[in-house]
Amino acid sequence: MSFDNFDNRVVYNFDELVDRSGHGSIKWENAKRLFASYGDCGFGYSGLFAVSTADMDFRMAPEIVEALCGAASELVYGYTEPAAAYFDAVISWFSRRHGICIERDWLVFSPGVVSALCYAISAFTNIGDGVIVQTPVYRPFHASVKSLGRRVINNTLLFDGNNYRINFDDLESKASDSAAKMLILCNPHNPVGRVWKLEELERVADICNRHNVLVVSDEIHADIVFPPFCHASYLLLPPELRGKVIVCTSPSKSFNMCGLQVSNIIIPDGGVRLRFVRQSHDCGFHTLNCFAATATIAAYNKAEGWLDQLLKYIYANYELTKEFIESKIPQIKTCQLQGTYLQWLNFDAMGISGRERERLFRSKLGIFFESGYIFGEGGESFERLNLAYPKHFIIELLQRLKSIF
Ligand SMILES: Cc1ncc(COP(=O)(O)O)c(C=O)c1O
Repeated sequence: MSFDNFDNRVVYNFDELVDRSGHGSIKWENAKRLFASYGDCGFGYSGLFAVSTADMDFRMAPEIVEALCGAASELVYGYTEPAAAYFDAVISWFSRRHGICIERDWLVFSPGVVSALCYAISAFTNIGDGVIVQTPVYRPFHASVKSLGRRVINNTLLFDGNNYRINFDDLESKASDSAAKMLILCNPHNPVGRVWKLEELERVADICNRHNVLVVSDEIHADIVFPPFCHASYLLLPPELRGKVIVCTSPSKSFNMCGLQVSNIIIPDGGVRLRFVRQSHDCGFHTLNCFAATATIAAYNKAEGWLDQLLKYIYANYELTKEFIESKIPQIKTCQLQGTYLQWLNFDAMGISGRERERLFRSKLGIFFESGYIFGEGGESFERLNLAYPKHFIIELLQRLKSIF
């Protein structure tokens, strides 16, 4: 796929910063609270940069808004299960965008991917069992394992100064620990921006199959991948290799619908699926949000052009960030962004701890990155910058950041 094949028939505007104040945006409200807690730090600041949590500050795709407005006036807001149109939209999306054939029976639901990870951990491991994660990685991967009384087994990614790869020798050794029952894979990987190749997934699958480790593949960022890179779902592996995998997907990152709370969990194995669904029911999940269902159908059937243009826009933000940093703040190193809208920045050269850096950026610059240390081992020297903002906002942020070097 290349940007040239993208749908440009309707032109969408990503240059406008949507003001989310007063709307309960978690990242903005947190930034405001924290900034106030630092008192007057003496920096002439003209606004905060809440670039932490992975949601976007663009206007929603009009196709989704229109569908929701229609649903708001027509629907009865009762308990809802997915209708045929829902299954058709999801199945068609994965076939069109990712070349995967999903059978209708394979699809089950969850209010969010983090909930799905918790259902999977609870259903398929016991207290004290080990769960392998590949840090630096999205914090709930390790936090959920710990809070559910399981043990985190770390297969830290290897970093060559620009890019990351999986440490397969270490994975082999960690998976051979009889306590290791599950691997939670992040593909594309938040926060390092890698899109794992099919050959890499084959090696992961080979190791996990030989050691009887169940793979949970979190593919929530699957749609945010920049050509020439291409998302390879774990489901592209042949059935004997993919084994009993649980694949977690959602329209929530792609179309900025995190607040609607819906995710589609794909589980080809019938036994695993049944146990997963029972666990989700035991945890009290039993109905789809009726508006999430409407929004998902609209997103997958009608808003593909919006997503195509979004990808182009975010990639341009990545290029300008990289260029700006390389030419004006060479103390910072950027990592190559293959997927996600999250730029991983290396501040090692500053020679201060993650917590000191966090305080400095927040209190002196009003910049609220997602601090690298929260992603676990290997994250200490980094900050994660959310690129899903209008270009002018990213430029202002970079200028503010430069002022401290
Ligand atoms: C890898 C990954 N998984 C899951 C989530 C959150 O998913 P949900 O909001 O559906 O629980 C995120 C959000 O940033 C994420 O990056």
